Amino acid sequence: MNLNCISRKNLPDILCRMPKAELHIHIEGSLEPELIFELAARNRIHLPYPSIRELRTAYTFTDLQSFLDLYYSGAGVLQKEEDFFDMTWAYLKRAKAENVLHAEIFFDPQTHTARGIPFETVISGLDRAIRRGREDLGLSASLILCFLRHLSEEDAFAVLEDALPFRDKFIGVGLDSSERGNPPGKFAGVFARCRELGLRLVAHAGEEGSAEDIRQALDLLKAERIDHGVHCLEDPQLVERLAQQRIPLTVCPLSNVKLCVFPNLAAHNIGALLAAGITATINSDDPAYFGGYVNQNYTATFAALPELGAQEAYQLARNSFQASFMDERMKDGWIRKLDEFFAHFCLKA
Ligand code: HPA
Ligand code: ZN
Repeated sequence: MNLNCISRKNLPDILCRMPKAELHIHIEGSLEPELIFELAARNRIHLPYPSIRELRTAYTFTDLQSFLDLYYSGAGVLQKEEDFFDMTWAYLKRAKAENVLHAEIFFDPQTHTARGIPFETVISGLDRAIRRGREDLGLSASLILCFLRHLSEEDAFAVLEDALPFRDKFIGVGLDSSERGNPPGKFAGVFARCRELGLRLVAHAGEEGSAEDIRQALDLLKAERIDHGVHCLEDPQLVERLAQQRIPLTVCPLSNVKLCVFPNLAAHNIGALLAAGITATINSDDPAYFGGYVNQNYTATFAALPELGAQEAYQLARNSFQASFMDERMKDGWIRKLDEFFAHFCLKA
């Protein structure tokens, strides 16, 4: 589609209004300080912060680990099925308002089972919200169970065992938490088992880690999609492979700046990833912690990078559907809607 008709000044509006999918969102990272305080009161949990404002001001990070420490502690207020429901429902309403038509949502069961919360409590709350989202908001969403890579592969096998009675409630598995010292290869066995079970496979790699971590995720885990992956540009052969094999990257620009992967958005490489022919997408990662939901990620990134215009906006939204695990018919339907949206803007111009 030729989108030269669209002027740059219309971009923020277009980015917010265009149909899109979100493929990299940790549901525990959507827990806003307001909800943390509400759930703490409901569950009679003492928080080490006197106010919502003071909790929010603690959100200054130097690297991934400094964020994870706060993120795991925030998740401690989630106790009952209804807490997991409320958190997910709040995200889905927000996603709907930002014209997200489809979301693939990560959850970290080990953060909860380690605190004695049954797996069933976690997944039942998440699943109930997703079903309501489908019915009341017309938003399709599915769950991806993430293994915490700072724990052992044996622990990952144990949570997989807990999860199997609920196999119909999640579509795949991922790998998150501290990348340094925990390469993808550590989880080759459990990913092979998940593959046999027909689960979809993704992995965080090349966020703080190197291009080698991305290679391991592809070769040893058989990951179908890479979360972050921004360090691939260190390795031109890997870039060619990602482009040729159409292996998508779920990129999270505001997260990358907050966790000091890039010094600022103007230094971000999303434009270079697209120019290299990679199926890159834009996502929010942990929106409550990183200062913005998906639309803020789009608008702030486009404002900082002059090489991004209407063509890239269209490409990123198209990639988000293409890179999803929806069936081909659903993808085609949403992409048709996207095409109509952009055609309408061109007609008006
Ligand atoms: N990286 C690794 N683990 C995570 C992240 C992330 O960006 N967000 C939540 N868990
Ligand atoms: Zn992430």
